[in-house]
Amino acid sequence: ELSEKIELIRNHVQSFPDFPKPGVLFKDIFSVLREPKVFSVLCDILCKHVKSLPSKIEYVTALDSRGFLFGPIIALDQQVPFVPIRKKGKLPGDICSASYKLEYGEDTLEIQANSIPKGANVLVVDDLLATGGSLSAACSLIESIGAKTVECLIVMELTSLKGREKLKAPVHSLLKY
Ligand code: PRP
Ligand code: MG
Repeated sequence: ELSEKIELIRNHVQSFPDFPKPGVLFKDIFSVLREPKVFSVLCDILCKHVKSLPSKIEYVTALDSRGFLFGPIIALDQQVPFVPIRKKGKLPGDICSASYKLEYGEDTLEIQANSIPKGANVLVVDDLLATGGSLSAACSLIESIGAKTVECLIVMELTSLKGREKLKAPVHSLLKY
C-alpha cells in the first residue's frame, strides 16, 4: 500500500540536529539512497505519480544538485527530455537566470535558453521544499522561457516554512514534516 511505502521511506530519512547550523534539523535524503530497495520504492512512487497526472509531462527539469538524484530517473521512465536547472555559472551557451533570496544574500539559478520550447508542459523536481525560494526561482525561469510548470514534485516538504504558498504551480510532496 502507498502509505506503507511512504512510511518505509520516511523511516530511512536520517535526521541530523544542528546541521548545517544550530537549530536546524537536517533531513538527509542520501540515507534513503544507501538502501537500494527503499530507493527503488521511492523512484517507483515518483514515476507512478507522474504517470497519473492528468496532463502529459513533456519535459522534466530538476534543481541542482539534489533534484538531479530523481529528475533524470523520472524523465527516463516517461521517455521525455531531462533539462537541468543549475546554480549560476555552470551552464554553457545562452542562458536565462533568476535570483532568489537566501537567509543572507541571494543565489541565482540558470537554465539553457533553448532547452524547452514555448508552451511545453514541464515537471519540476527537487528533493526538498523549505522556504520555497529555490523552487519559485525555478518556476519563474520556466515561465520566462514561455513554458508551463504543470507541477512541482518534491520528496520532502518542511510544511512549517510555508514554501508552498510562494508557488503558483501545484505542489505534490511525498513526505511532510
Ligand atoms: C536545498 C534543497 C532544495 C532547497 C530548498 O538545496 O536541496 O533544493 O535547499 O530550500 P528552499 O525551499 O528554502 O529554497 P541547496 O541549495 O542546499 O543545495 P543542494 O541541492 O546542491 O544540496
Ligand atoms: Mg537543492
